[in-house]
Amino acid sequence: MFDLSGRVVLVTGASRGIGRAIALELGRAGAAVAVHYHHRADRASEVVNTIEGLGAAARAFAADISDRGQVDALLRAVGEWKGRLDGLVTSAGIFRGPSVEEVDAADWTELIATDLEGTFRSVQAALPYLRRSDQAAIVTVSSVLGSHPAVGGVPYQAAKGGIEQMTRALAIELAPAIRVNAVAPGFIRTDINRTGHEDPTFHDQVARATALRRWGEPEDIAPAVRYLLSREADWVTGIVLGIDGGIALR
Ligand SMILES: NC(=O)c1ccc[n+]([C@@H]2O[C@H](COP(=O)([O-])OP(=O)(O)OC[C@H]3O[C@@H](n4cnc5c(N)ncnc54)[C@H](OP(=O)(O)O)[C@@H]3O)[C@@H](O)[C@H]2O)c1
Repeated sequence: MFDLSGRVVLVTGASRGIGRAIALELGRAGAAVAVHYHHRADRASEVVNTIEGLGAAARAFAADISDRGQVDALLRAVGEWKGRLDGLVTSAGIFRGPSVEEVDAADWTELIATDLEGTFRSVQAALPYLRRSDQAAIVTVSSVLGSHPAVGGVPYQAAKGGIEQMTRALAIELAPAIRVNAVAPGFIRTDINRTGHEDPTFHDQVARATALRRWGEPEDIAPAVRYLLSREADWVTGIVLGIDGGIALR
């Protein structure tokens, strides 16, 4: 089930957190994994080594996802690596949580350029390669905050809401050649929210608000992405799959 042997998949933001767990899961499924990172070459090479240890191919690729030229160069390099590309997972992203009054022009631009435009440009630059695959699929990464508002971080929530509608719009425009789906994680313990999950009060608030009574781990997200890329999901497109321990039920 959910075998990805023979596929080549690019995972952006694969050096740490959710992207890292996805890259490892895809390697376990037999895919050749392009492990994208920004600054943390050390963490990316650890991911590459682990995937190779599983018997799958992997290579690290650097790019600032908020820079269109770098995203184009990234996709060219990944496309040339194995001469094909079958899957794209857009996990690279940042979070900022200021109040509305505190958001300045630079904050807005950085967040939208990285999370929203970075996702779109990655998809756009991948299309020439994905169109040559007979099993092409894209998985974008939203958040429970893409559809359930919270206080703080309006630019992040706007970007994630944009990613969800972008996913549906891409699914309809790229069908039937390329399937496009999103995952929308709840609160997952990673570097992006370390100050939050290391604060006992906030940690407990989130755990209590989550129906399944705990924070998620990156490994809670990865199997769903493997499924969405697989043949078993051949009739699935345009969905936003919440994986959030039930926090969105509130
Ligand atoms: N953690 C959560 O609770 C949660 C919940 C919902 C959604 N998400 C989403 O899940 C995705 C991954 O988050 P995470 O929790 O795994 O975060 P993380 O542990 O902080 O990892 C972020 C990843 O994105 C990369 N990245 C950041 N800025 C970049 C840029 N400008 N260009 C290229 N790469 C960049 C980082 O590369 P380097 O390592 O090289 O810096 C790293 O690989 C994000 O889209 C986030 O919004 C997370």
